[in-house]
Amino acid sequence: MDERPIGVFDSGLGGLTAIKALRQLMPEESLIYFGDTARVPYGGRSPETILKFARQDLHFLQTFDLKAVLVACGTVTTTSLPILARETNLPMIGVVEPSCKRAMAATRNKRIGLIATRASVRSGVYEKTLKQMDPEMEVFGKACPLFVPLVENGRIHRGDVVIETVAREYLQELKDEGIDTLILGCTHFPLLKDIIGDIMGPRVTLIDSGEAAAEELKQLLEECFMLAEDAEGDAQFYVSDQAADFEQIAEVFLGEGMTHAARRIDIGQY
Ligand code: DGL
Repeated sequence: MDERPIGVFDSGLGGLTAIKALRQLMPEESLIYFGDTARVPYGGRSPETILKFARQDLHFLQTFDLKAVLVACGTVTTTSLPILARETNLPMIGVVEPSCKRAMAATRNKRIGLIATRASVRSGVYEKTLKQMDPEMEVFGKACPLFVPLVENGRIHRGDVVIETVAREYLQELKDEGIDTLILGCTHFPLLKDIIGDIMGPRVTLIDSGEAAAEELKQLLEECFMLAEDAEGDAQFYVSDQAADFEQIAEVFLGEGMTHAARRIDIGQY
């Protein structure tokens, strides 16, 4: 039994998809979230810059006495996870392996689509992981960089012409490939699940990377007897830019009011 909080971070709002899943799966756990809203998006940056930012995000979270870290960012996972994991003793889970496992279990025709940031698609990490699991897997990757700023600006609802137009254009080529499973390999993208699902149709299974990682973390904590048992968990939110916009979208998305106001920190100090 371990009552210490779990640290979760992302470049911005995307990691809330993992927070939502963690709150549902393990309501007794306390969570500390950091969203690097001053520097989002990460996905078009070089691996060196992403690693530098990710180290600062992790250093900030490590100012708390944590029991584990969930890297709720596909871009950080694909570019920096092995390095970050070597630099800390904390158990750390990223989003790639858990999403690939789910995709493997879901596909029937072994044609899997991946949508993610440019950095993640370029890294080839999702593809490599899937092919290691089954060499017959065919993976079709598509970078969707415009999704991230649209999500950060709250353009996540059905009927929003801008996001629907962008989504249709991005997804057409994956539809043409006849995939039956689509990994939402950037944690921002499950906020667009309704829109993406409408376009891909009911025969394509969508894999939510934040949710998959949250499930894997639960399993890990269970195996290590590190679940919080008696506590009533809550979530604290930190951001590196204005807190008000973040709070507004976070509350709508999480479907719950925030017990603590989101706080702004200077990430440059870490
Ligand atoms: N949510 C992120 C990811 O999972 C990052 C998006 C971005 O900052 O470009 O990749």
